[in-house]
Amino acid sequence: MPLVSMRQLLDEAAKGGYGVGAFNVNDMEQIQAIMEAAKQTNSPVIIQASRGARQFAQDRYLYHLILAASELYPEIPLAMHLDHGNSFETCKSAIELGFTSVMMDGSLKADGKTPATFEENVAVTKQVVDFAHERGITVEGEIGVLGGVEDGHGAGGSGLEHVTDPDQAVEFAEKTGVDALAIAIGTSHGAYKFSKKPDGSVLKMDILLAIHKRLPKTHLVMHGSSSVPKDLQDIINQYGGKLKETWGVPIEEIQLGIRNGVRKINVDTDNRLAITGAIRKVLWETPEKFDPRDYLKPAREAMQKVVALRMTQFGQAGHAGDYKAVSIAEIARGYKDGSLSTKPLVADK
Ligand code: G3H
Ligand code: 13P
Ligand code: ZN
Repeated sequence: MPLVSMRQLLDEAAKGGYGVGAFNVNDMEQIQAIMEAAKQTNSPVIIQASRGARQFAQDRYLYHLILAASELYPEIPLAMHLDHGNSFETCKSAIELGFTSVMMDGSLKADGKTPATFEENVAVTKQVVDFAHERGITVEGEIGVLGGVEDGHGAGGSGLEHVTDPDQAVEFAEKTGVDALAIAIGTSHGAYKFSKKPDGSVLKMDILLAIHKRLPKTHLVMHGSSSVPKDLQDIINQYGGKLKETWGVPIEEIQLGIRNGVRKINVDTDNRLAITGAIRKVLWETPEKFDPRDYLKPAREAMQKVVALRMTQFGQAGHAGDYKAVSIAEIARGYKDGSLSTKPLVADK
């Protein structure tokens, strides 16, 4: 299957009432792990690359690797997405490279650190929406700010400092016409999200429910949604790692989100943990080994296991064959003639 529009993939997920994992990649082995998991579970999937990933790998390598994945797994609907674009130029360059979807994270200024004003966020996001939709490309926006810092990106602090205001979410969706809306409900990027199993005082599922009530047809996105499972932490620490005790987002909370409008769930950290644990284990147990394949193969398998499990938990498993790809040109026509709506349905308070 050719690369598909993320809008098509999320519209289908909404019809089917399931969520779709968006998994971050930096290299070939991660892409292979995701595609094998998608094949194993018969899942549509989103592969996403951050600015850091584009820099690390050179984005042209990533583009061609993901394109190769779409050729090798023609039965899998696959969207190629830019994660946390920091400016119009970053989004434009991803679109010109061939990404079928971009996130304009205007919740932060272009430095990727300082929270932006609502007006700044609306202006830059709308600029990206206009450019992207003309070309059939999907746009995810963000309102509210996540906690933590990943690879220099993030406002830092706890996830509770800039939780999304539901009224602002409505205004933002109306003013920008985004296809998907990322919200901040207390989570952070990275492994250190919560110091104990989160309850409603730190993970604000009530805010998510309130946003969904006002925007019942809008595709919501949960960032910082790794569950940081204890078994993955333990493997790292058993083989010489030094992770401090920490909690992520419980799967049952993500599933509650999926029943209430969440269609895209971002997961990176869980895969990083799985890879690192597998590599540590090989090097610890067999220190004489030096062929990278000896540790990259178990690392790839460990990531595949996590991704396949998430695909089942998010409900996307079994849905790869539900639809055929609509061409990006056709999607562009849909935005133009209004058959692909960019006006959110807004319900009363
Ligand atoms: O947004 C966070 C993702 O985990 C990507 O992280 O910026 O370190 O590549 P990164
Ligand atoms: P995690 O750090 O929880 O995996 O979140 C990833 C993410 O939100 C990428 O945008
Ligand atoms: Zn994120």
